[in-house]
Amino acid sequence: MQELLNKLEAYKKEMAEFPAADEKQVEEFRIKYLGTKGLLKSIMGEMKNVPVEQKKEAGQLLNEFKQFTEELYEKRKTSSSNGEEKIAGETDLSLPGEELPIGSRHPITLMRNRIVSIFQRLGFAVAEGPEIEDDWHNFGALNLPEHHPARDMQDTFYVQQNPSFLLRTHTSNVQIREMEKGVLPIRGIYPGRVYRNETVSARSHCFFHQVEGLYIDENVSFADLKQTLYFFVKEMYGKDVKVRFRPSYFPFTEPSAEMDVSCFICGGEGCNVCKKTGWVEILGCGMVHPNVLSNCNIDPNKYTGFAFGMGIERPAMLKYGINDIRLFSENDVRFLKQFSSSI
Ligand code: DAH
Repeated sequence: MQELLNKLEAYKKEMAEFPAADEKQVEEFRIKYLGTKGLLKSIMGEMKNVPVEQKKEAGQLLNEFKQFTEELYEKRKTSSSNGEEKIAGETDLSLPGEELPIGSRHPITLMRNRIVSIFQRLGFAVAEGPEIEDDWHNFGALNLPEHHPARDMQDTFYVQQNPSFLLRTHTSNVQIREMEKGVLPIRGIYPGRVYRNETVSARSHCFFHQVEGLYIDENVSFADLKQTLYFFVKEMYGKDVKVRFRPSYFPFTEPSAEMDVSCFICGGEGCNVCKKTGWVEILGCGMVHPNVLSNCNIDPNKYTGFAFGMGIERPAMLKYGINDIRLFSENDVRFLKQFSSSI
């Protein structure tokens, strides 16, 4: 009896180790152990040689062995057809899927959204204008008549086939396009790409991005402009940042100013970013020139307004510690995937 027991234990071990990676191997298992010429049949056949007095005990052992074998087979059959199933014998559906790379927002987009959303909270509505523009909307209507020396401030790309069209040098063209619509008051924020014929280097590029702001209504004053920009600076750079306005010149505003914030890198102590001055220039602004209002058929005796314009690249470079403007347009995913989409 002990002999039979040992033999059955050895078979159990052998069965447990029998490979069962796919349906083919499970079928081989069935044939070898449960088939008509299989092991179970031949062991059962040996019962007749067992002496009568041991038949009962041997019968029990063999029944238990048969149950073990059948259960093992059932288990393997279900696991080989669940999950590990093959389609046309080729595809293994249990393998992990191919990972789809997840994109990230461009740092310029992140910074633009950040700027725009601050003004949206003040009720400014977003609008965009054309990048290929005519002379009137980019210059003329903005109080820069032909031969005005201020046109030289901005090296313009003209369309070769038709030089009365150009690539806009600033987003101020959207001011004109919005004012022309004749729906007042206007409170708008206008992001977009602009172009200038400049030598490409780490610090400047022949295209970059700006956000333009415009507010036209009755009784709009310079105080409104300052309060609006104070709010922007507080939201953008924190409440401890100081602000200063310097008198400046733009043909489309009178008076005009440039706004600086105390350097948010060194806190005003003086560093490389603020060139040791403690201040960083952020934007140009002013009260919309009466000529500009007239050019858009808005009565300058009834309406006043303010406008401002700022670049996106510089604040983005400062925020993310980017030292070369060219990185923004090279589309190197190793650069692009570093920016979080939280803004
Ligand atoms: N258009 C100017 C530039 O590109 C920026 C600017 C300055 C826009 C003053 C304005 C403004 O609306 O009032 O440099």
